[in-house]
Amino acid sequence: MPCGPPGPSAPPGEHRRSRHYLSTTVKETPVTLPASPTAPAWWRHAAIYQIYLRSFADGNGDGMGDLAGVRERIPYLRDLGVDALWFNPWYVSPMADGGYDVADYRDIDPMFGTLAEAEQLIVEAHEQDLRVIVDLVPNHASDQHPWFRAALAAGPDAAERERFWFLPGRGADGELPPNDWQSYFGGAAWTRITEADGTPGAWYLHMFAPEQPDLNWEHPQVRAEFESILRFWLERGVDGFRIDVAHGLAKKPGLPDVGRDPDVTDLPYQDCDAVHEIYRDWRKIADGYARSPRPGGAPGERVFVGEVWLPTPEQFARYLRPDELHSAFNFEFLCCAWDAAGLRDVIDGTLASHRLVGAPPTWVLSNHDTIRHVTRYGREDTSFDMGDKRLGSPSDTVLGRRRARAAALLTLALPGGVYVYQGDELGLAEVEDIPDHLIQDPTYARSEGRDRGRDGCRVPLPWSAEPRSLGFSPDGASAGPWLPQPADWSGRSVAAQQGDPHSELALYRAGLALRGERLQWLPETLEWVDAGPGTVAFRRDNGFQCVVNLSAEPVALPAGLRVLLASGPLEDGLLPSDTCVWLIAE
Ligand code: NOJ
Repeated sequence: MPCGPPGPSAPPGEHRRSRHYLSTTVKETPVTLPASPTAPAWWRHAAIYQIYLRSFADGNGDGMGDLAGVRERIPYLRDLGVDALWFNPWYVSPMADGGYDVADYRDIDPMFGTLAEAEQLIVEAHEQDLRVIVDLVPNHASDQHPWFRAALAAGPDAAERERFWFLPGRGADGELPPNDWQSYFGGAAWTRITEADGTPGAWYLHMFAPEQPDLNWEHPQVRAEFESILRFWLERGVDGFRIDVAHGLAKKPGLPDVGRDPDVTDLPYQDCDAVHEIYRDWRKIADGYARSPRPGGAPGERVFVGEVWLPTPEQFARYLRPDELHSAFNFEFLCCAWDAAGLRDVIDGTLASHRLVGAPPTWVLSNHDTIRHVTRYGREDTSFDMGDKRLGSPSDTVLGRRRARAAALLTLALPGGVYVYQGDELGLAEVEDIPDHLIQDPTYARSEGRDRGRDGCRVPLPWSAEPRSLGFSPDGASAGPWLPQPADWSGRSVAAQQGDPHSELALYRAGLALRGERLQWLPETLEWVDAGPGTVAFRRDNGFQCVVNLSAEPVALPAGLRVLLASGPLEDGLLPSDTCVWLIAE
């Protein structure tokens, strides 16, 4: 069924046969688009590159990625062809959860650099037409945040404790947690404190690690503080915020038990109505900055991207109403198996739910919490589930990489925004053999080793063949990379791929460039095309077609179209299994 108005039909003629099309064979004349006053806002179609700062590039040689490392690589990011950079948290943090435990929301952790460097980076990115999105972590703070330290010091029933969730325990001596909520990282979501006089005291809520106490969003000071934090970064020119756990800030009044039903979806700690009021207030603040100059760049809309994990598209879409968040990550797509019918369903569902509220769809394959999709697509079960996400079977990464290349072109061809997680463009696989004693992700310890954690997708990037850190750190670095890099990653490094026309890097560069020239400004619609069983094929408004073959057999290409780009070689004019091709009617 078409989604939106049908595009133009293909002109007659034969597509070229028996020719291999890889990224380098593309010789396109750039299409100059007229500057239109009705052009959609930048965030509706942006390609956003996710920077996990600690693992991107190390500028000062301590084995940890930092702002200096990013500043050196801005030309790389510009040449890749993305429109914006999303930085995982860069704030002062004890790093109990990779920076998602923030001790000071208005300063940069010394591991990463200084506030002045962040300001400079924002300017330099803007000068290269790259927008900057920072991660905001409003659901919880660090246990080292001054508010939490004050709450502990102030004693039972003190006003300082009201900015968090301190409650007496249940049981005769308060020895049981106040309710039955479980932490997303495993174990109870409550920790009991010891008061200054040595007696067991109240319990506090932490939906993640104990070092991440949940903030009480019913408290006016919490609201006022985050509005002030938003303004702090907006004044410094950031173009947007990625909202951590966006569905979780408000809790159901009274904090009732979840109960025993394992299939319950109406959880008292997520998607509570009050959360929407928060985003309506925030939207007014961001809109107020749309016309103010951004250091290093022209004025432009400032936006919110929600991390929203919810069971139904209807619940999800409510966050994207016109006076709330601008967009959100499409985790349904990320979780979907490599299966034509499943992908078509998810794409249809995504377009329908976003159309309801006028929001642009987004497409994402991997991030810093999930299994890298090269590995996922090489497994027997190619879907992803946050519940048992890292317990997959062995992976055929040659197959996974082939599919990942096809998936990259699929996501770049779809209407809306797209996310690229650092290393996707190098075809990196999950690192599954990090020695136990080097694992740093708290989910490993919290699950008593059942879950090996998320470090496998956070391994420092390979930039060259340099033996000590694959170019991640400068020469003469005082320490090695904070997580070990696989030896065979030198062949996957930027330097190794740079000159290789068949590399993932070349594919991403060509795909992003063509997307920018031909697709980015089209209406946010597509029309399905029947390219045979086991295929996902659609047409965009300008006669562009994308065909992905997920079946085991080669399929014929639609007639009369010219090949623009393919994720792998065509075979006698046929599209082989696990390959994607872009075609144009001209
Ligand atoms: C979601 C983030 O993506 C993840 O990395 C983090 O551990 C949790 N939220 C808690 O902040």
